[in-house]
Amino acid sequence: SDIRHYNFTVVLKNTTRLCSTKPIVTVNGKFPGPTLYAREDDNVLVNVVNHVKHNVTIHWHGVRQLRTGWYDGPAYITQCPIQPGQNYLYNFTLTGQRGTLLWHAHISWLRSTVHGAIVILPKKGVPYPFPKPDKQEIIILGEWWKADTEAVVKEATETGLAPNVSDAHTINGYPGPVSICSSEGAYTLHVENHKTYLLRVINAALNDELFFKIAGHDLTVVEVDAAYVKPFKTDTLFLGPGQTTTALLTADRGIGKYLIATSPFMDTVVTVDTVTGMGYLRYNHTHPLIPTIMTSIPPVNATSLTSVFAESLRSLNSKEYPAKVPLTVDHSLLFTFGVGINPCATCFNGSRAVAAINNVTFDMPTTAILEAHYYGTKGVFTDDFPGKPLIPFDYTRTTTPSNLQTMNGTRVYRLAYNSTVELVIQGNSILAPESHPAHLHGFNFFAVGRGLGNYNPEKDRKKFNLVDPVERNTISVPTAGWTAIRFRADNPGVWFFHCHLEVHTTWGLKMAFLVENGEGPNESLPPPPSDLPQC
Ligand code: C2O
Repeated sequence: SDIRHYNFTVVLKNTTRLCSTKPIVTVNGKFPGPTLYAREDDNVLVNVVNHVKHNVTIHWHGVRQLRTGWYDGPAYITQCPIQPGQNYLYNFTLTGQRGTLLWHAHISWLRSTVHGAIVILPKKGVPYPFPKPDKQEIIILGEWWKADTEAVVKEATETGLAPNVSDAHTINGYPGPVSICSSEGAYTLHVENHKTYLLRVINAALNDELFFKIAGHDLTVVEVDAAYVKPFKTDTLFLGPGQTTTALLTADRGIGKYLIATSPFMDTVVTVDTVTGMGYLRYNHTHPLIPTIMTSIPPVNATSLTSVFAESLRSLNSKEYPAKVPLTVDHSLLFTFGVGINPCATCFNGSRAVAAINNVTFDMPTTAILEAHYYGTKGVFTDDFPGKPLIPFDYTRTTTPSNLQTMNGTRVYRLAYNSTVELVIQGNSILAPESHPAHLHGFNFFAVGRGLGNYNPEKDRKKFNLVDPVERNTISVPTAGWTAIRFRADNPGVWFFHCHLEVHTTWGLKMAFLVENGEGPNESLPPPPSDLPQC
């Protein structure tokens, strides 16, 4: 294995989209940011230097960070932010992972512009478990606001209202031909007939689960969240924010220009956020005046497409890449996951949106939980996060839900080293039913089951897939339904678990697991590095 060095300088950059220019926070002046390339088992060193006026942290989304929790990145969970003028050297190894992931800022809403791809190639001499592509391409889906995103966050936190939705969805930073203002710079994938392309598609949007389609071409999904899957063909990909999908595309149309489209999914909440991000796939030597072949855009509430996609995903589970699903369960947890409304005297309308897991709205501490845990500092967090809802949960959608009340707290759930967890995430839809991409730091988990309505332990548990469930780091909890995951707590540290819709995270849809050290060698978290930022 090799050592890979990167310099990430966080700087402002004036950027023009939709006919207006604003300074945005970027890494190295790029939007999207630079790609981090490495091979499985490589050691990656990224020196992050903060040259803006905001506090910054970078999270390596989906990187397991085995015993390197100090480098995970979420602000106030594993580290204090890197303050203006300071730097921090992230140092981690890509143990046993291969495929596509992303990195992004993990403080406030900075990740709207501070994000990029992580490409983990197989070890030298190790082939892909699918036909070798001729070329590879990174496709990052995102959002663009004309307003300053910090102002948008302020709106979300201070008024408690749903914030302004973004003005456009983007493909590799560009909205494409959605208006006269944006045609320039539309993303174009140039292809040659008869060649195959490995598309590494990343959803880096803040607040939208997205569909992705290319007119006239099917895609063969081969990997998600840096874990191989049984290949399957589809004309539509579905990705929640933080999720990645790697797919093979065969260019077999000979000639022409085809629309690439990314559009949001939102199945029950009325939304105005329906602008499609667009780009083109274009065969070499195609005449410039040839019209674009269009594709049907999935309707915003295309729930069945999302279920079909979720159910098509299976771990490859081959001899080389077995699915190591925990078959016994030490902790059986049920988390309700949703958004509600709490009274607020100072707010517009006298109420504000809050979000909670098991009726607990997470309060961000002002110092890092991991440090408080490591040094035994009292008063930063408590380890009494409830393993089941505080208020018994019955979701029928006919009566007024009983669990509007949430309480604030900085609570973590404690796990012994190497214990196994089965976690059922139940969308509780206090305010409005909505699908949530739930993301766990520090682990890959297995998605063993999903369903609609209330989770029924007697009935549903029998149907769990313990053979080849898909392995991921972010999973969509279906609207008015549930998802069940399993993982082994083999990574000592403090691991954030939250909704990856940034507006919900802001409202408190987050908690953390604390995994204790084990007894053996290589079973405990080493001391923090000397340059760990201080609060
Ligand atoms: Cu991609 Cu905690 O985030």
